[in-house]
Amino acid sequence: MLSKLLLLLCFRLCVGQADGGRAEALPKPSLRAWPSSVVPARSSVTLRCGTPTRDVSFALRKAGSVWEMVQSPDSTEGQAELHLPDVKSSHAGEYTCEYHRKGNPHVSSGPSDALLLLVTGYFRKPSLQAHRSGAVTEGQEVTLQCQRPATELGPVMFALLKAGSAAPVQVRPSAGRETDFSLRNMSAGDSGNYSCVYYQAKAPFLASQASPRLEIRVAASPPSITLDYTTGNHIRLALAAVIMVIAGAFLLEAWCTQRMKDSRSPELEKPME
Ligand SMILES: *[C@@H]1O[C@H](CO)[C@@H](O)[C@H](O)[C@H]1NC(C)=O
Ligand SMILES: *[C@@H]1O[C@H](CO)[C@@H](O)[C@H](O)[C@H]1NC(C)=O
Repeated sequence: MLSKLLLLLCFRLCVGQADGGRAEALPKPSLRAWPSSVVPARSSVTLRCGTPTRDVSFALRKAGSVWEMVQSPDSTEGQAELHLPDVKSSHAGEYTCEYHRKGNPHVSSGPSDALLLLVTGYFRKPSLQAHRSGAVTEGQEVTLQCQRPATELGPVMFALLKAGSAAPVQVRPSAGRETDFSLRNMSAGDSGNYSCVYYQAKAPFLASQASPRLEIRVAASPPSITLDYTTGNHIRLALAAVIMVIAGAFLLEAWCTQRMKDSRSPELEKPME
């Protein structure tokens, strides 16, 4: 009787736990590379997987193989890193990461979005130029053309890079030797030093050297709001002037009336005496 009860209790607990595990879906983590996902050979890069969930263990996957990630002990959120101090061509490729709660290794989160790590320096550098020259003002569109040397390569992809950005600004396939990147609605934050690379569209994902840098400065356009303010101020000034003239006219009239009264009053008082 007692054993039956215990069995029932255990069954309840176990089912409850399994239900809990299933009901509580773990959100997919994010995977980023620092300083960038496009790095020169022999430099260092850190892949960082993060999730708001705490007390979890991470795994990093690249083309089927699993790499252990080192948990950052000081982070308040769940976060783990893989540090590659000496990047090689074999490190290039698509990575994803995932995690599971400690003590519950059978319930995994979904994989992160794939991160393509590119290692540059394996082909001759392309050139990068802007279609339009001169100053760029806010709101304008800029087209940058990346052109690679005429060498036989399979299908390639082109990536537009911006110094200081952790990921390419844009990525485009190209059958030919060049591709156009259009940057719409430029803002001051788009100012910077741009470069481009091309890379193999599939494994081993070898990438070229980066093109020389192209500096783009986005100037603030004269904002229409300022014009509106100026117009508004002119209208206000004109109104104030009109009011002052009218007030002045009233004052003058009042003063004249008073003077006329003052000059007439002795004559008016005479008959009364
Ligand atoms: C351009 O960017 C500005 C500020 O970033 C935004 O307010 C505006 O709506 C954008 N215009 C278009 C056409 O996307
Ligand atoms: C581009 O790089 C140069 C040299 O590092 C720097 O002086 C300049 O400020 C950069 N330009 C922009 C727009 O960030």
